[in-house]
Amino acid sequence: MISEKINEILNEQINREFYSGYLYLSMSAHLKELGLNGFAKWIKIQAKEEVEHGLKIFDYLINSNSFVTLKQIRTPEFEFRGVLSIFNHIYEHEQCITKSIMKIAQLADEECDRTTLAFIDWFIKEQLEEEEAVKNIIKRLELFGEDKVALYLIDKELDERAV
Ligand SMILES: [Fe+2]
Ligand SMILES: [Fe+2]
Repeated sequence: MISEKINEILNEQINREFYSGYLYLSMSAHLKELGLNGFAKWIKIQAKEEVEHGLKIFDYLINSNSFVTLKQIRTPEFEFRGVLSIFNHIYEHEQCITKSIMKIAQLADEECDRTTLAFIDWFIKEQLEEEEAVKNIIKRLELFGEDKVALYLIDKELDERAV
């Protein structure tokens, strides 16, 4: 049985995941406009993953006989100041998401809700992987990003992302 508090925090998380998808889609569109197709594709795939995360929580609530309350998704805001600034923004955003996931785990722990704890464990691992993937791109952009040929090569490499 999912408590009211857990229900509320999971519904909020659905909104955060969909917002992440929205934010990343807006970034992807902008990069596509600039002709940075590889960066645009990489971020678009990321956006799809975020929507899937939202759906995963949606299914969890439904399958637990709990309630889904879909809230308004706000307009994504980001200022384009170069590719590196976009990835720094993604990294900061993912860190906030990690904190919100940890809050869910903490609350589930306090309530001895083992089922939600087990469920949220997947998200904890996923956050680790995502932060690492974004940090790796940032490191390379910091090293070579000012160089146009390097930017072209990183763009080409990111274009290879399939899932
Ligand atoms: Fe996510
Ligand atoms: Fe994410």
